[in-house]
Amino acid sequence: MAEREAPSLDLTLDVLRAAAEETRLRILALLAEGELSVSDLTDILGQSQPRISRHLKLLVEAGLVERHREGAWAFFRLTDRGTALKIIRPTLESLDRSDPQLLEDRTRLEAVRAQRSHAAQAYFSRLAPEWDHLRSLHAPEAVVEAAVLEALGSKEIRNLVDLGTGTGRMLQLLAPRASRTVGLDASHAMLSVARANLEKAGLRGIELRQGDIYAPPFPRDTFDLVIIHQVLHYLDDPARAIREAARLVAPGGRILVVDFAPHKLEFLREGQAHRRLGFAPTQVAGWLDEAGLDCTLTKELAPPRKGDDQLTVSLWLGQDRRTMTDWPLSEPNKEVA
Ligand SMILES: C[S@@+](CC[C@H](N)C(=O)[O-])C[C@H]1O[C@@H](n2cnc3c(N)ncnc32)[C@H](O)[C@@H]1O
Repeated sequence: MAEREAPSLDLTLDVLRAAAEETRLRILALLAEGELSVSDLTDILGQSQPRISRHLKLLVEAGLVERHREGAWAFFRLTDRGTALKIIRPTLESLDRSDPQLLEDRTRLEAVRAQRSHAAQAYFSRLAPEWDHLRSLHAPEAVVEAAVLEALGSKEIRNLVDLGTGTGRMLQLLAPRASRTVGLDASHAMLSVARANLEKAGLRGIELRQGDIYAPPFPRDTFDLVIIHQVLHYLDDPARAIREAARLVAPGGRILVVDFAPHKLEFLREGQAHRRLGFAPTQVAGWLDEAGLDCTLTKELAPPRKGDDQLTVSLWLGQDRRTMTDWPLSEPNKEVA
């Protein structure tokens, strides 16, 4: 649907008709709290799946809700595209939150979320011992996150995508600064953990998509910031992932890559499916360059201890060279030669 300032009479009538039914209005009120699957909605509303699906179909057709697939699941969210939602948003915001029916829906929503979070954390805790070991070998996460924020500086972030978002940590860090935030990951289990974490952090409106970093399901030039944080070392062809990321970058936009510097910890291939044992500063800078971005900053974060069993975390910031912008360069530790 095209973006328009004032909705037409026909559109307004279609939208009001779609929303003016009890179950559908309750669904809209629930989706205002965050994205949900059909089975979540079935559990919360206590209605059959075919009925819920029919209501959702009508809401999608009216341009109020959008649907996306995650493996065998379909997730639904209020759309931020088009004007349909503008018609109904004031109604959703003015609904009496203490209404007994809406209160009961929200209580059930909390129960569904708690269950989801429990299942996601159970999956994650199986990986946790190995991840904790890995974490102990490199700079603390707080240090890495501070370096990420410093590298990005104060430049406005409009549309942000985190490729290989995993548990959604980068989304939590950066979503408060962005107008639109999207996380992509190949793993449904990881996305479930991310979803639970974002809900726990009270972050709403973040889009989570299942997909492959080699074929991200977004149009060219969509994002002014693309993050690839600790993902490249899992990939057979990181240069291709950078090329795909570059395709998503809007003119003048940026890619931030965070990964390990070259290391010799072979056990990470066996134990944690790492394909690549880190990257030299010039290697990632070269891939960014070939993809049409200038590498304007690299930084290396020393491990907690000295030794061959330690990992250095590296950051690379690439700037799309189609437009010259005056974004402020933060203090680089080391400029790429
Ligand atoms: C170590 S985790 C990092 C997650 C997150 N970026 C972070 O730093 O917390 C790597 C993530 O990359 C995802 N991943 C690996 N290969 C991928 C691919 N081809 N497409 C999309 N995601 C991928 C994995 O599912 C995993 O969640």
